[in-house]
Amino acid sequence: MAHFPDTPGFTGVLRPLRIECDIHDLEVEGEVPAELDGTFHRVHPDAQFPPKFENDQFFNGDGMISLFHFRKGKVDFRQRYAQTDKWKIEREAGESLFGAYRNPLTDDPRVEGMIRGTANTNVMVHGGKLYATKEDSPPLLMDPLTLETFGYTDFNGKMKSQTFGAHHKIDPKSGNLCNISYASTGLLTRDCTYLEVNPQGELVLETFFEVPYYAMLHDFGLTEDYVVVHVVPIVSSWDRLRAGLPHFGFDTKLPVWLGVMPRRGEGRDMRWFKAPKTVFASHVMNAFNDGSKVYFDIPQAEGNSFPFFPDVDGKPFDPIASRPYLHRWCVDMNSKKDEFESVEQLSPMIDEFPRIDERYVSQPYRHGWMLVMDPDMPMETAGSRASGFRMNKLGHIDHATGEQKSWWAGPSSMIQEPCFVPRSATSPEGDGYLIALVDDLNTNYSDLVILEALRIEEGPIARLKLPFRMRSGLHGNWADRSKLRG
Ligand SMILES: [Fe+2]
Repeated sequence: MAHFPDTPGFTGVLRPLRIECDIHDLEVEGEVPAELDGTFHRVHPDAQFPPKFENDQFFNGDGMISLFHFRKGKVDFRQRYAQTDKWKIEREAGESLFGAYRNPLTDDPRVEGMIRGTANTNVMVHGGKLYATKEDSPPLLMDPLTLETFGYTDFNGKMKSQTFGAHHKIDPKSGNLCNISYASTGLLTRDCTYLEVNPQGELVLETFFEVPYYAMLHDFGLTEDYVVVHVVPIVSSWDRLRAGLPHFGFDTKLPVWLGVMPRRGEGRDMRWFKAPKTVFASHVMNAFNDGSKVYFDIPQAEGNSFPFFPDVDGKPFDPIASRPYLHRWCVDMNSKKDEFESVEQLSPMIDEFPRIDERYVSQPYRHGWMLVMDPDMPMETAGSRASGFRMNKLGHIDHATGEQKSWWAGPSSMIQEPCFVPRSATSPEGDGYLIALVDDLNTNYSDLVILEALRIEEGPIARLKLPFRMRSGLHGNWADRSKLRG
């Protein structure tokens, strides 16, 4: 008998879904463009069994993968659990055996030493395989169409790191999947790696580097010449784990660092620049370099944005300071100082989950999209993401003109991370579609909406209608049909 906690993390918007299903030919309002030919995978945490602790973190749920398969104007839907080692042994036991988020001290002795990953953070097709990832574990490989789980890989023993990050990027020039990992030699270690996996699925580069302090390295930036890593004081320690505190806490006493390493260099070539002040920043929109100058675009908040990773000194959470706004950080590799050149705010919109036309990863680029929270719009229903944010708009920024546009999803709606799909492989930057799940908290249904990416203010041209409300998720990616086979 499953009894989930009667807590905000498991009720309302965050009620567990646990639905594995197939829907042939989704109901559609409007018309799905026939040139959309491929797959959209996305993932949300969805605990298979009630957690061992009722205050369990949202990020601790098992990865539930959703697949929208687009073909000739029709879309099939499939949803399956990522069958991690954790999922399998718990399914056999009929209960949760792993304990608190990133705290093995709370686990059942039966699972000691096992990989704790849940594959609940990102999904991306590379070399014909679906990589389902979480940053505390190796990547889990799955079939992109059947969603059958193959299992974890260490790339035939080549990957020395114990972990593989969850914000992989495909280098548009080499086609390599590029990534960073942290806690690479064990929980709470300062050892990190930069990795590249070629389109054949072979690990072709792994170099270690060390961060100034252990922190959640959730995302990173890639430029033509550099790997860029932001270290923000979302920190932890064995003391925290022994005390049963949430794995991460926010420490405003520590500086923010930006590490820049030549792509063709070694980890020891990493150069560290100190930010002018301690801020919160997580997801990267894009990065690029112009000679020695490195530009890094990222939503930045004055204070901690994660209420579930509380201040280490007990300072109360400040919802206004938690609001992120897109900024551009700049450092100069020719500078003699270890300081930033500049920090510039790029948008007045409260924004996170930034995306771009990913053919421009690592390159100078013009268009960006993001989830936006507009607190001035009416909200008829209660509910928000685990972060407390109610993302009710999609936003578009044109970096060339500075023009910013948005589309409001309505008073009862909340939007999940968008994804850009080019109209064709050769269409100009930004020419294509933006797709995103919109959860209606009033009707309790979700739609996958399709918008013209450069005219989002006009609203969806089509809505794919799911017969249930999707659980709040994390990340997802488009794969063109040509990418589905290795
Ligand atoms: Fe993320």
